[in-house]
Amino acid sequence: MTSSQTASRITAEIETTFQRDYRVHAPDMRRLYENAKRDQWNAARDIDWNVPVDLGQGIFADELIDGYQSDYWNALDAQQRAALNVEFSCWRLSQLLHGEEGAMLACSQLVDIVPGNDAKFFAATQVVDEARHAEVLSRYLHEKCGGRIYPITFNISKLFDYLLGTGRWFIKTVGLQLIAETFAVSLFRMLAQSAKDPTLREITRRILADEARHMGFSVLSLPDEIRGLNQGDLHELEDFTREALVLVMSGQFPAQAFAAVGFSAADIEGIRRVRRERAAGPDNHMFRKLFRRDMSMQVVGNMGKVGLLNARTSSFLRELGIDPEMRPAA
Ligand SMILES: [Fe+2]
Ligand SMILES: [Fe+2]
Repeated sequence: MTSSQTASRITAEIETTFQRDYRVHAPDMRRLYENAKRDQWNAARDIDWNVPVDLGQGIFADELIDGYQSDYWNALDAQQRAALNVEFSCWRLSQLLHGEEGAMLACSQLVDIVPGNDAKFFAATQVVDEARHAEVLSRYLHEKCGGRIYPITFNISKLFDYLLGTGRWFIKTVGLQLIAETFAVSLFRMLAQSAKDPTLREITRRILADEARHMGFSVLSLPDEIRGLNQGDLHELEDFTREALVLVMSGQFPAQAFAAVGFSAADIEGIRRVRRERAAGPDNHMFRKLFRRDMSMQVVGNMGKVGLLNARTSSFLRELGIDPEMRPAA
């Protein structure tokens, strides 16, 4: 790959607060920081990299693959199905990897921008967490999957362009910790449940434990800030929330993964159509259904906790097919 395909530059105007008030103002945030230090793990040492991965079996559950059980799928033999599974899984893992890298960058900006040291200290731990996630996923793709790292999708790239460009920490936090990480947690949970490979199950389990803390950051840091916003800023934040949700929920079609196993352009278009029809109809695939429900519930729950659930946001949630009355079981 050329460097323009693997690197982009984003201009950001960021105001760094050099905070020299070291008293504890937010004990809950300090507790989250303590948890982060306590729960660190080492991707080099704590994952058994010697366990071989059987790519002949595929990586994730077949039913996650677009077009599963369609005529296109049914025409493949076992070997072709496994090959498609591997490409599809690597495409999915690559997108998560790019998200981890973007999260690391956004958090390093948060260290600068957030005003108080309670939040700065926590954000500093999240930078390390995200570096570890990028390390572990890229190592898996390089060592176990022959280095199949797919380019970032348009949607993820667009979301991070905005997240990394804005100078306002509460917009970064809504975009990253509230929306993108809620999405990633639901996805990792689905992958943890459905992965055929035990190494990957272990990796996703460990990442999930870290991500729960990251979502916690938004729930602790945002309520006071959102309460204090003027109407214009609140509307801007609500509009951004909508845009971010559209970007993460509309997903993208892994055409490159299908091309890698030899599907023609016409077949790939056909599979895309199957995917669209299934998305519009009643979704009969268990993992996807659980994922959507899990994700919607978490988003609505967290929006409620930070004070972003109101008549305006509820109406766009409904437009996006999310029930704003949904609540996670306590
Ligand atoms: Fe992460
Ligand atoms: Fe995270």
